[in-house]
Amino acid sequence: MTIQIRIERTTAPKPRPQASELGFGKYFTDHMFIVDYAEGKGWHDARIVPYQPITLDPAAKVFHYGQTIFEGLKAYRTETGQIALFRPDMNMKRLNRSNDRMSIPAIEEELGLEALRQLVLIDKDWIPDAPETSLYVRPFVIATEAALGVSPSKQYQFIIIMSPVGSYYAEGIKPVSIYVESEYVRAVAGGVGHVKTAGNYAAGLKAQEGATEQGCAQVLWLDGVHRKYVEEVGSMNVFFRLGNKIVTPALTGSLLSGITRDSVIHLLRHWGLEVEERLISIDEVTQAQKDGSLKEMFGTGTAAVISPVGSLYWQGEKLTIGDGSTGELTLRVYETMTGIQTGRIEDPFGWRV
Ligand code: COI
Repeated sequence: MTIQIRIERTTAPKPRPQASELGFGKYFTDHMFIVDYAEGKGWHDARIVPYQPITLDPAAKVFHYGQTIFEGLKAYRTETGQIALFRPDMNMKRLNRSNDRMSIPAIEEELGLEALRQLVLIDKDWIPDAPETSLYVRPFVIATEAALGVSPSKQYQFIIIMSPVGSYYAEGIKPVSIYVESEYVRAVAGGVGHVKTAGNYAAGLKAQEGATEQGCAQVLWLDGVHRKYVEEVGSMNVFFRLGNKIVTPALTGSLLSGITRDSVIHLLRHWGLEVEERLISIDEVTQAQKDGSLKEMFGTGTAAVISPVGSLYWQGEKLTIGDGSTGELTLRVYETMTGIQTGRIEDPFGWRV
């Protein structure tokens, strides 16, 4: 198929922030991508336009029933000045899995990838190049039909916006404290925890507030049925180094299948390490902490890439992971992942495009 994307360039480019002011998701580039969907017409009128507010009817279904999904990926400026994206095809595939679960019509992968490519090129001067910075790309779909009946919307918009970012956590690659959540749950199998829909994140805020009150950066989510098995850490997947083995929770239907998670599993296996994807209970984790076999723990996600965990708060006790500092393997994974993403090191997997 030929993909036509109409382009309207801004006549008023915005000043770009300094690397030191970036934080996460506070500034937005000069342009955005939009394509509309209408029943009978399909996806149509793909365009890149100046970044601007969108006008929606107050009855738009997205506001009332949360029919919406999103993605997150990053563009990098490599040391040789090239522009690189990290596994964008995986984001488009997951976007369509999310669409399917939320009864949103699929978007042709090639359209999404071409939109990403053209948008990143138009705003390429917004890609920061200081260490630990990148251009965070946020594709999302919203149900725009103005109607209050609970049924799939007949109209949608697929939009892509972009934001130059620094570290997701103020701590950067320093270890964070994590509160093991025993009251609230994030998701259950059969629900929507395995896809990227807004409600999963809204539902996590209450627990996040509790974690903050306890002086923790994030929560560790346990499964919603047995309240026993570890699922995710904050909005990230989680890995444990138990002795020389690495364990990460299996994708049981309530966890997001993270692209960083998949990449880290590949990388560890490529290094000849044993990785188990299986159920891991909080009792097994605390027991391993007590007998000294829990050496390292880290979260993985697009935003933070790798986030080391220094301690867990569980049943009134603070459990220090390893010696509380960033573990050797965690650091190696972080350096290699960011090295591949930014072109600092060779990419044997063909992930950087
Ligand atoms: C990610 O790191 O992949 C996320 O989903 C975090 C995002 C919600 C800010």
